[in-house]
This record gives sequence, C-alpha cells and structure tokens, in this order.
Amino acid sequence: MEVIILLGEKDVGYAAAKRIGKVITSRTEPVLGLATGGSPTGTYRELVRMHQQEGLDFSRVRTFNLDEYLGLDPSHPASYCHFMRTNLFDHVNLRPRSAVVPSGMVVGQEIESYCEKYEEEIRQAGGIDLQLLGIGSDGHIGFNEPGSSLTSRTRIKNLTKRTREDNARYFSNPDEIPHHVITMGIGTIMEAREIVLIAFGKAKAAAIAAAVEGPITTSCPASILQMHPNAKVIVDEAAASLLQRAEYYRWVFDNKPDWQKDR
Ligand code: GLP
Repeated sequence: MEVIILLGEKDVGYAAAKRIGKVITSRTEPVLGLATGGSPTGTYRELVRMHQQEGLDFSRVRTFNLDEYLGLDPSHPASYCHFMRTNLFDHVNLRPRSAVVPSGMVVGQEIESYCEKYEEEIRQAGGIDLQLLGIGSDGHIGFNEPGSSLTSRTRIKNLTKRTREDNARYFSNPDEIPHHVITMGIGTIMEAREIVLIAFGKAKAAAIAAAVEGPITTSCPASILQMHPNAKVIVDEAAASLLQRAEYYRWVFDNKPDWQKDR
C-alpha cells in the first residue's frame, strides 16, 4: 500500500484525477470503478477540466459505480445515479451506455440475480483497471459496512445508523434515507487492478489510521486494502494526522526514483 500525504483537499483531488487520466490515456479500453460522496467531487471536477481544456477523451472509457441506495429513483437528487450525472457523466464524452450505476429500483427476488448480472458485466468488460474509493468514518468502502465479509460480492446491504447519520447531509428530509443499498462487495473491489482511496479532513483520520496501520479486520473493511498489490491511499494532512508512520510515508514519496514517479 502506498500512502501519499498532500497538503489539502484540492491536492488530493488533483492527484487522483491525474492517476485516472493516466489510466485513460494508457489503455485502449479503460474500465474505471467510480465512487460517490463528498470525497471524489474534486477529482471529478478536475477530470471535467482535463476533458474540456486538455482534451482528455472518455469515448473509449467504461465505468461501473460502487453502489446505490435501494428505493431511490435515478432522478432523485440524493441518488448516486443523479450524483454521477451532475458531477461527471454530463460533462465528458462518455458514451451513455458505457457508464453504469447499480439500479436502485430493483426489488425483492430480482435483487440477487441483478447483482450477479452486475458482476458479470464487469467481467465482460475485462475487469476494472482503476477503482476509486472514498472511506466512511467507520472504515466502510462502497457500502460494505463493518462486519462485511472480506470476500463479499455485489449484494444488498443494510446501512448502519452511523452511515445513515453521516449521509443525512445529502438528503433534504432525513426520513427519506434508505436503509438498504446495493454495493459491490469487498471481493469485487479487490479484483480491480489498481485501487486509489482518497480522504481528507479530520473526520476521516481515525478511519484512515485503522485502514492503513490497523489489523486487517472486518471491523474496518478498508483495512483489506493492505492485501492489495497496487493500492494507493491519497490523503490530506488532516486525514493523515493519526498515522504513526506519516514521516516514513512522506520520505518514501519525496524520494521516489524517477522511473516510479508516474505510476
Ligand atoms: C458513502 C459511500 C462511500 C463513500 C463514503 C464516504 O456512504 N457509499 O462510497 O466513500 O460514504 O462519503 P463522503 O466522501 O461523503 O465522506
């Protein structure tokens, strides 16, 4: 796991966008795994800028989103489908059918087969080249709450009280926050060839410390990234503030050999 500590939120967004841009330009059919929430908005803003000002071409890109609330119509302002349209999809030249967000409208018996189909679609696309992740204050990735199996696949999950409270800020009426979601599993996420987890702000410091330096445990789902062969954790100073080995990570980053600098 590579830990990159940058000054602030903006730098985190730029660094993640730069890495994503690199994957887009270096592959013939790039496949991205995308995240939602406050963490990736700066990354998407920078990707839109790179598209508009530098001609970053999304026409060959396919994307799969991590998760979606069950019961929210795609046009609901708090749905992840709506989030992706307004933050990225509507502003770049992605082909409409190439950008997939799990449906929040599947119900009952359909959910299991829908989730299997979602996994199959990712496989058919050749697997995910780069998965972008945020992290919940309880260490969740996607909507894999603490206690999730570390080998889980795309499925329905119940949100914890804490996650519903954390995400209340995205809903005008807190009673509307769904209890159920569809999320890629931790096993699904771990199959991505590269993972970039981003976080900023003090509220994420404990989750980042547990994920990067704590034991690998279902109690902190993000800790499984320690087992990934190509995972980067890009954080600002505040989110890094509880890391014991922060000085070492900074030293490693500052002394990267030239040939590694673009990776
Ligand atoms: C949400 C999402 C996650 C996201 C996390 C952090 O519940 N399902 O994918 O990483 O919580 O959200 P934020 O970036 O808004 O803090």
